[in-house]
Amino acid sequence: MDIKKVISEMTLEEKASLLSGLDFWHTKAVERLGVESVMVSDGPHGLRKQDETADHLGINVSVPAVCFPAACASAASFDRDALYQIGESVGVACQHEKVAVNLGPAINIKRSPLCGRNFEYFSEDPYLAGELAASLIKGVQSQNIGTSVKHFAANSQEHRRMSSDSVVDERTLREIYFPAFEKAVKDGKAWTVMCSYNKVNGEYASQNRWLLTDILRNEWGFDGYVMSDWGAVSDRVKGVHAGLELEMPGSGGANDKRVVEAVRSGKLDEKDVDLAVERLLTIHNRYLENAKPETVWDKEVQHALARQISAESMVLLKNEGGVLPLSKEDKIAVIGYFAEKPRYQGGGSSHINAFKVESLLDALEGYPSFTYAKGYGIEKDEADEALISEAVQNAKAADKAVLVLGLPDAFESEGYDRAHMHMPSCQIELLKRVSKVNKNVIVVLYNGSPIEMPWIDDAKAVIEAYLGGQAVGGATKAVLFGEVNPSGCLPESFPIKLEDNPSYISYGGEGNTAVYNEGVFVGYRYYDKKKMDVLFPFGYGLSYTTFRYDNLAVSSDSIKDTDEITVTVDITNTGNVFGKEVVQLYVSDVESTVFRPVRELKGFEKVAMNPGETKTVSFRLSKRAFAYWNTTLSDWHVETGAFKIQICKSSRDVILEKEIYVESTVRIPVKYDIDSIMIDLMENPKAAAMLSPILEGMKKAMGIGQGNEDSAVSDGMMTAMINYLPLRNVCGFSGGAVTFEQLQMIIDAINAE
Ligand code: BGC
Repeated sequence: MDIKKVISEMTLEEKASLLSGLDFWHTKAVERLGVESVMVSDGPHGLRKQDETADHLGINVSVPAVCFPAACASAASFDRDALYQIGESVGVACQHEKVAVNLGPAINIKRSPLCGRNFEYFSEDPYLAGELAASLIKGVQSQNIGTSVKHFAANSQEHRRMSSDSVVDERTLREIYFPAFEKAVKDGKAWTVMCSYNKVNGEYASQNRWLLTDILRNEWGFDGYVMSDWGAVSDRVKGVHAGLELEMPGSGGANDKRVVEAVRSGKLDEKDVDLAVERLLTIHNRYLENAKPETVWDKEVQHALARQISAESMVLLKNEGGVLPLSKEDKIAVIGYFAEKPRYQGGGSSHINAFKVESLLDALEGYPSFTYAKGYGIEKDEADEALISEAVQNAKAADKAVLVLGLPDAFESEGYDRAHMHMPSCQIELLKRVSKVNKNVIVVLYNGSPIEMPWIDDAKAVIEAYLGGQAVGGATKAVLFGEVNPSGCLPESFPIKLEDNPSYISYGGEGNTAVYNEGVFVGYRYYDKKKMDVLFPFGYGLSYTTFRYDNLAVSSDSIKDTDEITVTVDITNTGNVFGKEVVQLYVSDVESTVFRPVRELKGFEKVAMNPGETKTVSFRLSKRAFAYWNTTLSDWHVETGAFKIQICKSSRDVILEKEIYVESTVRIPVKYDIDSIMIDLMENPKAAAMLSPILEGMKKAMGIGQGNEDSAVSDGMMTAMINYLPLRNVCGFSGGAVTFEQLQMIIDAINAE
């Protein structure tokens, strides 16, 4: 299709009509010109195609599909390939079902464990979230199906999600809330972006030109289109100009009319409308020209893949005395409602209609010696004595008790935030009572976000399975019995208690204003800086085998910020079983004039090794790995100095490190004036040369450096006072010997550089 030609033949009304949805899931057509309507559907851990009754809350049924592990779980895999495979599978489903764009991945940063939608998001760390998002996107788009990376931007709470204003300083946006989107666009080449409901620094994302045009297109080179989150449009005309091409689901035609009127009255340039239509049709044609409805969607094959990825995503948090893996000879008491009816995904728009669900009990079928007791229900918080007694009886008679616990649906969902981080009381009580009669308690957790674990001493082993998708039961069995060696790592910190979280004081905001007070110190960036104990740190996860790290090497120990550097390290499986290890690379700025986290994740690789096998892992680092966002430069900046490259097993566990020196090639321009203070001025060699004699004279006149022990003012104190003295005060302190005119000459001379 010659898109430009088609647009030139459209009426203004036709063009404006294309800028909003036909219904909940379809775009409009212009039949007389051959412009077809396409369908979009939710994801991202499966396909939620609603045929008849539509809603954006996951209420009405959608076509039977495969539910892969939710992002909370798949992120723990730290495995780009796994995410690619999920994406590819979803792409296949979309081709089969004639869906042009899958609405995901959702990649907002987990600022607080309370965000109701954390189960749908990847991480508290932007690097991890960005890498995984890009892989998922590439997978979906390999099938010529579009993605819609969402929700752009700073949408890290559900509370008042359609009206709240995320107030975030620019450095924090650039370093924490933007990079995953940047990666999704630059590397993943996402076909579309979905803007968020909230405002960002006072302007709705849906009409925020700085976000949608300046950053997304002009800086990152985004060449797809932006759609609104469902119902996120406030001022449609402003939105068109800002770069919001598609309003979803639409306003019953009202906003289309407004767009027409705005063009007629000269308020909106028709070129903006044309450009929006061109961007929409370009993407839709990419799908239409490659549509393959004959694609075979083998759900059984995808179910097996979902099981494998779920197992690879499980995080072994504790394994005292090697109580795991279980052996076939163990007499096991399986306890907990979730063993029978697993919670495997979250509620809301990402809810997939799983074509089948595999529970732990299903997976144990045929296993000779296990009992099952429900232990708790999910309808109420209080313990049920009859259920607990039954579980205790079973546990007494068993070698090991496997308790499948977690959070019921109502505890975390799209649309509202959590109020606390507790597990239901009935489950805690059950665990306490079972642990009294059986010393080998193993807890498996099905939950979408971190919980407090005051009960952890009652369990010998804990597996964080997150929301592992429809095959989570089979995956749980595989990890429990060591058929799969756990290799997941936490993509988020587990604080000891909610109050430890850096956003705790201001999370949710006051009224509609949510100030992101903690700045860049989100998650481990905060806990590490504060040297605060956490329950489990970011990046943490155990294995049934052991690994040794050797030979950390860097290609150069002194580089310019324009250079690239290669880092290599050897990993050996020193245990007795096959295993996978997530090798994590962090960068730490040894000394900095700006506040920086202790270390930040800048690379990770997952490697598989047989016992005794060694592999060399290699990383490439460039400027961004060392840089922070400098607001004076409006750019990334590396401060000249030493940096540590650290190979870690978590953000808290540095195994090997090497120091390198990075030299900046950029000078930050400084403008001095009469209010500049001495300590800053003296950093400028020219200023230092001019001011030194004046300062020496002043010091002498004031008796500084004379070692007068009787003075109430120490030399150190006087020096500090002079350091922080504005230039303007020199006139007074010099008793008129130095004039304002002379000071101005000095300022002019140093500014002229
Ligand atoms: C959600 C989006 C979703 C859309 C369509 C909204 O409520 O925030 O993530 O894609 O509905 O269901």
